[in-house]
Amino acid sequence: MQIQQALNHPISQLGASESPHLDAELLLAHVLDKTREYLITWPETVLKESEQQTFLNLLQQRVLGQPIAYLIGSKAFWNFDLIITADVLIPRPETELLIEIILEHLDTNKKLLADLGTGSGAIALALASERTKWQVVATDSSEAALKIAEENAKNLNVSNIEFRHGSWAAALNSELYDAIVSNPPYIDKADKHLKQGDVRFEPKQALVAEEQGLADLKQIAAQALDKLKPSAILLLEHGCQQGEAVRHLLEQSGYNNIQSYKDLAGLERATMARR
Ligand SMILES: C[S@@+](CC[C@H](N)C(=O)[O-])C[C@H]1O[C@@H](n2cnc3c(N)ncnc32)[C@H](O)[C@@H]1O
Repeated sequence: MQIQQALNHPISQLGASESPHLDAELLLAHVLDKTREYLITWPETVLKESEQQTFLNLLQQRVLGQPIAYLIGSKAFWNFDLIITADVLIPRPETELLIEIILEHLDTNKKLLADLGTGSGAIALALASERTKWQVVATDSSEAALKIAEENAKNLNVSNIEFRHGSWAAALNSELYDAIVSNPPYIDKADKHLKQGDVRFEPKQALVAEEQGLADLKQIAAQALDKLKPSAILLLEHGCQQGEAVRHLLEQSGYNNIQSYKDLAGLERATMARR
């Protein structure tokens, strides 16, 4: 089978993916360890039997809905590629908004930050790699996720992150932080989106929260307050319809200067507050 036949294989049309051709390109590029440009430049290259088998196997799993990131084991975030397994949430482009907000509000001098619920390490790694004088504490209640985050830090040569196991602020020490950032689970368990697309395959503990998705946001807001220096920042990602509820719970928890931020689609996606 040639590259062009593999890319147009009828199996790829059987699933519910909105981009079957792109999916096939990403999977084949992964199997051959080449770029997508290579596939376009050399369409008549004949695949080895083992390459063909591996590709068709991945394509079948894709047709059954498995996310591309889990099949190829990586996902681009900020300006690097992360190792991704089914133990971690697949980092979303919207989450890059949190990095932009923090970089805008803190100077480059020595700082202590925390990323609660680090998953693959996406947020912690972006912040720590952008600001090498900052120290970032990255926590998660999932040991399996922490293993992946540590592997990513090693791979990207980022050493100003300390990984800790534990639930929300309980994993933090007695030091006071300049900023605490979190993208916690915030989807309501009855949300119909949980039955669609990639999220069906992602860890439930990374996605779902009680109280219409607000339980973890509430816990973090309550627990983070006395872990922050005076005027320090708490920055939370949340669902695009949770802005008002999150502003309210931050106010109830005693924060000041509460402000929500919109993502590129114009939806309220993150809320920042100060102690
Ligand atoms: C939405 S994912 C975010 C992952 C990563 N920060 C990102 O933005 O891609 C939420 C993360 O919070 C973790 N988590 C869930 N409950 C937790 C808890 N009680 N304490 C700490 N982490 C928790 C999950 O394991 C998961 O890694």
